[in-house]
Amino acid sequence: MTPIKKIIINKKTSNTPIWLMRQAGRYLPEFREIRKLNPNFINLCLNKNLSSEITLQPLKRFNLDAAIIFSDILMIPFALNQEVNFKKDFGPELGNLNLEKLSNIDEVQFLEKLNPIYESLNKISKDTLTKNKDLIGFVGAPWTLLVYMINKHSPKNELIKDFFKDESLINEVLIILEKFLRIHINQQVKNGATIIQIFDSWSGLLEEKNLSKYVYKPTLNLVNYVKSLNIPVICFPRGIKNYKNYCDIVGPDVINIDYDVNPTLICKEVKIPVQGGLDPKVLLTNKENLKKEALKYLDTFKDHPYIFNLGHGVLPETSPDMVDYLVKMVKDY
Ligand code: CP3
Repeated sequence: MTPIKKIIINKKTSNTPIWLMRQAGRYLPEFREIRKLNPNFINLCLNKNLSSEITLQPLKRFNLDAAIIFSDILMIPFALNQEVNFKKDFGPELGNLNLEKLSNIDEVQFLEKLNPIYESLNKISKDTLTKNKDLIGFVGAPWTLLVYMINKHSPKNELIKDFFKDESLINEVLIILEKFLRIHINQQVKNGATIIQIFDSWSGLLEEKNLSKYVYKPTLNLVNYVKSLNIPVICFPRGIKNYKNYCDIVGPDVINIDYDVNPTLICKEVKIPVQGGLDPKVLLTNKENLKKEALKYLDTFKDHPYIFNLGHGVLPETSPDMVDYLVKMVKDY
């Protein structure tokens, strides 16, 4: 059994495994090298040779316990024929949402567009670098995808004023998303993903009264779907205030916490395995401080099933040397 599965399934509390969100990305010179020659991010995600190479880059450098497929949550709106562009120093920008266009997509067309991602997973799963390690597939939660599809770019701290104006449109989009997210999850698993992570990066933008409709219900459906495939599911509802409620209602196998969560409290409140938490900005400081901050998590979760990770993705300014130090430190703990 892989080190991560020992934590999730056997509820082991020793030999803390580690992987990092955005472990493949701009902080690695070998990634920037490829990226420079491939200015179109979507095309890069759809290049099975390069996306598999990028996925494996961090595993060549560090003793990580999982690979995560190099792709993006916004490949779904892209495959549903909404325009998606990644603009330098701005982030994603989406075209207008057209329900008619969205409703006309069938499963065959959808799979045809995303097929290189599945081929890439297949390739990675057979590589010796992933032996006895997990291969993480992922999706954006319906709510977070809806935010991008309607807002059309990353929200800062709030939604656009008229976000909920057209409720029937929102309801239709959520139904379409749920259908295609299941298909995307299924294909990732069929092609070698051994764990699925659901990113709900904007769950923190919702008021309590809206959580049930937009976060709990649609995510619970997906969580149950992943479980029906006999694959563990990790949920990351970033910024949600009440992680305990979320765990009770949605029931993931693992909960990823953000860096605003008090690790001592969550350790007492939830019984399921926990992942993550460390503020990625700590990797921009120095080794002494990194050790001190990482130890907070390791010590707090000493007797609780725990997978080491960050409270959000590795920042582009991070030095690979600091990542190396962190991985070694966790392994030696
Ligand atoms: O290593 C990994 O974690 C796997 C690959 C991965 C990417 N995006 C690659 C990527 C994963 C798991 C994601 C998830 C993702 N994408 C999320 C959820 C997690 C989160 O960050 O909250 C979200 C919200 C997105 C949407 C997205 N993609 C944004 C907002 C941006 C621009 C901001 C940024 O960090 O650059 C992206 C681009 C993106 N996705 C990059 C990478 C490596 C950077 C692309 C580049 O310019 O080289």
